[in-house]
Amino acid sequence: PSPRLSSRLGMAALVWTALCLASAIAVDRSNFKTCDQSSFCKRQRSVKPGSSPYRALLESLQLSQDSMKLQLVNEVNKVPLLLELYGLQGNMMRIKINELSPLHPRYEVPDVLVRDPPATWLAVTGRDDNSVELALGDSGHKLILTGKPFRMDLLQGRELVLSVNSRGLLHFEHLRHRCACPSPSFSDKVSSSVGSLWDKIKSLFHREEPKESAPADGTASEESEAAVPGEQESKEDRPDQAEEELGSWEETFKTHTDSKPHGPTSVGLDFSLPGFEHVYGIPEHADSLRLRTTEGGDPYRLYNLDVFQYELYNLLAHNTQRTVGIFWLNAAETWVDISSNTAGKTLFGKMLDYMQGGGETPQTDVRWMSESGIIDVFLLLGPAPSDVFRQYTTLTGTQALPPLFAMAYHQSRWNYNDEEDVATLDEGFDTHDIPCDVIWLDIEHTDGKRYFTWDSSKFPQPRNMLGHLAAKRRKMVSIVDPHIKVDSGYQVHNEIRSRGFYVKTKDGSDYEGWCWPGSAGYPDFTNPEMRAWWASKFSYDQYEGSMENLYIWNDMNEPSVFNGPEVTMYKDALHQGGWEHRDLHNLYGFYVQMATAQGLEQRSGGLERPFVLSRAFFAGSQRYGAVWTGDNTAEWDHMKISIPMCLSLALVGISFCGADVGGFFKSPDAELLVRWYQLGAYQPFYRAHAHLDTVRREPWLFGEENKALIRAAIRQRYALLPYWYTTFYHSYRSGQPVMRPLWVEYLDDVTTFSIDDQFLIGNALLVHPVTEQGAHGVQVYLPGKGEVWYDVHSHQKHHAPQMLYVPVTMSSIPVYQRGGSIVPRKERVRRSSDCMHHDPYTLYVALSPQGTAEGDLFIDDGHTYNFESKAQYLHRHFSFASNTLTARSADSKGIFESPAWIERVVILGAGKPAAVFLRQSGMPEMRLDFQHEPETSILTLRKPGVNIGADWSISLR
Ligand code: NOJ
Repeated sequence: PSPRLSSRLGMAALVWTALCLASAIAVDRSNFKTCDQSSFCKRQRSVKPGSSPYRALLESLQLSQDSMKLQLVNEVNKVPLLLELYGLQGNMMRIKINELSPLHPRYEVPDVLVRDPPATWLAVTGRDDNSVELALGDSGHKLILTGKPFRMDLLQGRELVLSVNSRGLLHFEHLRHRCACPSPSFSDKVSSSVGSLWDKIKSLFHREEPKESAPADGTASEESEAAVPGEQESKEDRPDQAEEELGSWEETFKTHTDSKPHGPTSVGLDFSLPGFEHVYGIPEHADSLRLRTTEGGDPYRLYNLDVFQYELYNLLAHNTQRTVGIFWLNAAETWVDISSNTAGKTLFGKMLDYMQGGGETPQTDVRWMSESGIIDVFLLLGPAPSDVFRQYTTLTGTQALPPLFAMAYHQSRWNYNDEEDVATLDEGFDTHDIPCDVIWLDIEHTDGKRYFTWDSSKFPQPRNMLGHLAAKRRKMVSIVDPHIKVDSGYQVHNEIRSRGFYVKTKDGSDYEGWCWPGSAGYPDFTNPEMRAWWASKFSYDQYEGSMENLYIWNDMNEPSVFNGPEVTMYKDALHQGGWEHRDLHNLYGFYVQMATAQGLEQRSGGLERPFVLSRAFFAGSQRYGAVWTGDNTAEWDHMKISIPMCLSLALVGISFCGADVGGFFKSPDAELLVRWYQLGAYQPFYRAHAHLDTVRREPWLFGEENKALIRAAIRQRYALLPYWYTTFYHSYRSGQPVMRPLWVEYLDDVTTFSIDDQFLIGNALLVHPVTEQGAHGVQVYLPGKGEVWYDVHSHQKHHAPQMLYVPVTMSSIPVYQRGGSIVPRKERVRRSSDCMHHDPYTLYVALSPQGTAEGDLFIDDGHTYNFESKAQYLHRHFSFASNTLTARSADSKGIFESPAWIERVVILGAGKPAAVFLRQSGMPEMRLDFQHEPETSILTLRKPGVNIGADWSISLR
């Protein structure tokens, strides 16, 4: 097994699962499949490069304004495929490959794309016997499609950007009847049993075959069928290749047998990225930010499990010249192989190659393999990282703007025991003067793990408890998991059952698995009617004891099934429309969070922004809330790894990410806990959480000194909330990640490409948390030729680029503000973010070497959609140039009255002025008090006293 953290996390998760089952004794990685144990992965991987059987039938090419359709044929088995290419606006391209005429529809992922991506024109610009050249809109990209063997090469100008199937690994297992069998009669029997099974499945759900997932599109396939007469065989006569290959029709892993009524259905394709050595994304991995090659080992696996909770199929490749993304849209179990021609070469080796002129161009090759569905891939052609983020989020949506409180500090553990425990905890934060916005209740708060209920002896008066928290301007989050106790006395279960909303077994009965409540049903969240019903359960009259300040946590939504194969659901379980769980497994968690977020929205009549935390997710989950990295352990490595894990997620659109502060399993010592609070203070989702069996670890339980350190870290978070909120607003608007790797801002600085122990928040703050035990110092890389950075604590200026050794003590959190930026803060930290809503601001103006700076601030009510529906917001822009700081509106559409004012301006890197004047329209110029520290070049302007919404300027003379 590779030393990836995911596996370590995985084992940890397994321990925990074992505890709850009260049966297992030891952590056993063998409970989860390797590629070799996953028959489709094995079959796909057995296809070796260099001998593609696929030929593109160039004569079948049909061009419409924005798309091209063409048939591919596998020359060995003669099964025709339909290739569709779309040029998309904004420098993207979509490639779809499906069977031309499948026996029945293959699954196409619904609900992930936010809209039909707007297309651009395609034109044939050249042709010869074996190839066609296409121009893709005005993007300057050309695609050369080669007939035999089939491949596609995408060029910009004369530069090759990316190739598809250049290694010939396209492998599309067509649907077939099981007929490689001993005798015709047996064959008939199997065929008809497959047919009747499909009919049975459909009848179970009383529905027609789903329209949205019809094969490619009806007209196209008819046209294409007509286009190549004779190529098309009767479905019944198809030649079968791998029929009886091991695992094609049935597969057993451990004690579980997976029946495959549709036989082998996997799809695979390769992509080559010449000139790219650095690839990122697919955040299942958890060792380094940069993806490693998988040669000689297992591919990355994308299968939402109670072990690996991460599911995203977007991959980014970056070099100094360009960034491109590949988004593989498929919800089935998927494996990804990455190889590189420079892997294993030392830097010296590469330099030697280069000097001798003999080195190959570095190249990364990627191969995707999914168990079912179709090939549906988006090429995001950048060229800058910011373009790729925009491209990806125009497809899958941007990060929802969270309510302000959700960016503040959250206190959780499994479990806070009862109402008294909650009251004491809440009081504790005030007694110890530590800000906290949210207290969390884990599964033990329910009546026997029946979600939407309360344990009547421990939580007899939930509304009182919530009211008490509301009076303190605090919130609560309760857990609502998607497994529903099978209990005829439980109304939620009865309703789901009577409405037929449970996922079904292959035989048509309600599927039941084992989870926290014992025997449990799993609502079919892929069914929109089920989601609407689920959403209605969050209304105040349905969820008894709930109130406006109660928000929701969806856990175990991979879904986790303790007694299921690999701790999840059988792949042959059936969903609405007759789809197998196999087809959509990785969407389950996405839909759970979607339905819950809809519920929270609806309970307020669509006014309030929801907050829902989810453990499982998929592309597009960013639209519904926050995610966390699952069950980690109180160990230094686990803390450290939360940085690349959240960075990888941020690169693929999911910015609202955090890790359990303190570590879920085991108990951290004071040093680790303090360091984790310090790191968490600078990650997007900031929640302390702990396992049931760990000792209590509220921030005041580790002695005065440590309490003060934790308090200081949390206070740093609160002071920066205006900056976090503004950065999230940008992410919501433009899809740029909140927490970013350095290379996203310093595109051509190769030193940044492999850094994952430090990161940026927005573009102005660089954080290098202390993640080593007993550290006396850290090496901080400050990027940017000719730039300067200011230590946010000492305000000391540092020139860049440089590797800076920074001595640290237990109170140190090395954070730097980029010269040229302006960061707003609120420095009167209080009990909760809501208490600080109207508090005054301090602007930190960090001057560039040219004496300039820029920044902004977004404000609204902090919790409703009025910023969208009624333009009730303020977006302010601040800029410093020619010794003048100016405030103006960044967006004149927004109008919002805020009593908040600016109480201080701190200018870093400033000389001493003779005088400072404030000018506001319609008012006489006013002199401002100031203080200048020559040692550090800090100029502090006191009490400008201007309203945050006002236009003004301050000049230093
Ligand atoms: C698993 C989650 O990952 C963990 O955070 C939670 O405390 C337990 N389930 C109990 O609900």
